[in-house]
Amino acid sequence: MFKNINKNAFKIDSFLKKYFRKQAYSDLVMPMKYGTLHGGKKIRSTIILNVANIFNLNFNKVVNICGAVECIHSYSLIHDDLPCMDNDNLRRGKPATHIKFGESTAILAGNSLLTLAFEIIIEKNFNINRNAKLLLLKKLAECAGHTGIAGGQYLDLNYEKRKTNASKIMLMQKKKTGKLFEYCCLAPAIISGKSKKIQNDMANIGREIGFLFQIADDLLDVKGSKRKVGKPVNKDRKKGKSTLINLLGYKKTLQFALKRKKMIIKKLKKYGKKSNNLIETIDFILDRSY
Ligand code: IPE
Ligand code: IPE
Ligand code: MG
Ligand code: MG
Ligand code: MG
Repeated sequence: MFKNINKNAFKIDSFLKKYFRKQAYSDLVMPMKYGTLHGGKKIRSTIILNVANIFNLNFNKVVNICGAVECIHSYSLIHDDLPCMDNDNLRRGKPATHIKFGESTAILAGNSLLTLAFEIIIEKNFNINRNAKLLLLKKLAECAGHTGIAGGQYLDLNYEKRKTNASKIMLMQKKKTGKLFEYCCLAPAIISGKSKKIQNDMANIGREIGFLFQIADDLLDVKGSKRKVGKPVNKDRKKGKSTLINLLGYKKTLQFALKRKKMIIKKLKKYGKKSNNLIETIDFILDRSY
């Protein structure tokens, strides 16, 4: 499993490297590359490839989606580490982008990665049905903006040191992290022209996977090692972040996550053997140490 994740990360990095090479020169390209390449599990891309496998789509049919999603994810991390947000110095085992290049550059590189994601999907070489492409762009905008990552990040910061409850935390995490995973599972269904019912089913499964991923990230913040995760640990408690761990404790949160995992795997049964790779990735999400 770990080998597959690394292999996929390498392939998506190569795609992005080529894409960056084609860009006209600007001083922002270097910080954009710094925040995106050489590091990061590229787990969202692995999920896209796993779902592509369920719908018999080959790598070339989804690689642009992987590239776009990783640009948006990296942008969200660059901004997440800024002093006005989580104020963290270390990311993927290296100084965070704003530490290396300065705050204003990090903000602008993040903005540029967000818009680059849309360029990557629009590009002519990404040859898919035109209506499918329009829908992919619309859904990506929804998943990244105020109804998705940005909205969820707002709530995450707003809930710091505040009394919240489980449903508020779940909604916040489903937005800040779940929405992009939702997109990862939905996009291959759109590209292969599946019915709205299957598209919705996949979107729901993706959102649940993302929620599980965020719980695992919160668990790693408590029990993980800084060297392995490549970012500071024990930071959530210090910042007064509203997490399920805060509310239920570590053990109960882990049990809750295991239950959610089982539920997701059950939902995948109807997709048969072709969903085995996705199930392996879901197992990895909770078992990981990085
Ligand atoms: C970290 O995401 C931020 C969350 C949404 C929890 P990842 O754990 O996927 O970060 P990288 O890309 O592997 O560094
Ligand atoms: C980040 O969540 C979620 C994003 C959408 C960027 P965290 O703030 O928990 O991510 P880390 O722990 O800094 O990677
Ligand atoms: Mg954060
Ligand atoms: Mg953070
Ligand atoms: Mg975290």
